[in-house]
Amino acid sequence: VIPQIGPWIDDSELAMLREVCASTYLTEHNLTSRFEAEIRALTGAKHAIAMSNGTVALYCAFRAMGVEQGDEVLVPDLTFIATSNAVMMAGGRPVFVDVDHETFCMDPDAAARAITPRTRGVCPVHLYGVSAQLDALTELCRDHDIWMVEDAAQAIGVRWKGRHVGTFGRAGILSFYGNKTITTGEGGVVLTDDDELARTCYRLKNHGRDAKGLFVHEHVGFNFSFTEMQAAVGIAQLAKLPRIIARKAEIRRDYETGFRSIRQIALPVVPQDVSPVFWFTSIIVPEAAPLASFLAERDIQTRRFFLPLHLQPCYQAKGLDLATRPSSLWAYEHGLSLPSSYQLTDDQQGEVIGAIRDYFGAATG
Ligand SMILES: Cc1ncc(COP(=O)(O)O)c(C=O)c1O
Repeated sequence: VIPQIGPWIDDSELAMLREVCASTYLTEHNLTSRFEAEIRALTGAKHAIAMSNGTVALYCAFRAMGVEQGDEVLVPDLTFIATSNAVMMAGGRPVFVDVDHETFCMDPDAAARAITPRTRGVCPVHLYGVSAQLDALTELCRDHDIWMVEDAAQAIGVRWKGRHVGTFGRAGILSFYGNKTITTGEGGVVLTDDDELARTCYRLKNHGRDAKGLFVHEHVGFNFSFTEMQAAVGIAQLAKLPRIIARKAEIRRDYETGFRSIRQIALPVVPQDVSPVFWFTSIIVPEAAPLASFLAERDIQTRRFFLPLHLQPCYQAKGLDLATRPSSLWAYEHGLSLPSSYQLTDDQQGEVIGAIRDYFGAATG
């Protein structure tokens, strides 16, 4: 089987993990601080707060923004469901905004139309290796006096006009789930330049207190701690990040070349202001479902685009606006992510390209 995605793990992670085990510090300690410092250096954010996963990082960011019952937060209709669930966990109400047809990220015009007197914030998601239109969204927030929290779960390394995504809003988050560009197994980080927000996020993940070892709790908080094992793997992964990004760009280029003569295939557009990281290479085809089945029969794993939020079974009958978002639905029907791991071999990629050429009846070669 050719996997759609997998992490690149080798002796460098093992060596770091051995160090952690020998140190006997398994919960948050020096390596977690080092991992956070390396994330700050990479992104340029003033604060990076490591957490158990990206979903709780989003939850803490929304809570820190003061989301309350009935507050509306705009999220793109095409995203992993954690984006909108985190709004709900914080007590808010997600409002699903259609995406643009080229990048499949939140459409700023649709966002403007979705604003009501109850809108408190916008949570753009930087999807499939590119970035949402951050200039237009920043302007929208300024015009309507609302905040932005960026879901950059998939977007480590992605830049908008040279600046790392996740640092444009009041806060942003990254995820280090196993299928991400780099992983810590589970893991997430809140990015922010705001000292007070950073303190609130830290408290929320640390039982409501400013440091470990205190047992008088001024605030209600939870336990979303990171571990030294995660930090160890993350530090080793960060050292590989430039190589992973370069290899993923090569993979995308080779797919592009392989499909050049197939008129039924298009690749998502990379806007001029974006330095992408091709976490996944995705293609746009007339019908994603039958192609995915055809490839599965040849032991080639692919991944469909997200089912739009307005169609999620768990969101029916919740009083949310479930009107069709046409571009999001279009992306779901036409988008397919191909095998894109760092470790994908040239032979495997050739097999994927060959199978897709067969499917479309294109001449091989
Ligand atoms: C867009 C998006 N948001 C949020 C998450 C949640 O992150 P985590 O799995 O670390 O909780 C993910 C991925 O897993 C994601 O792709």
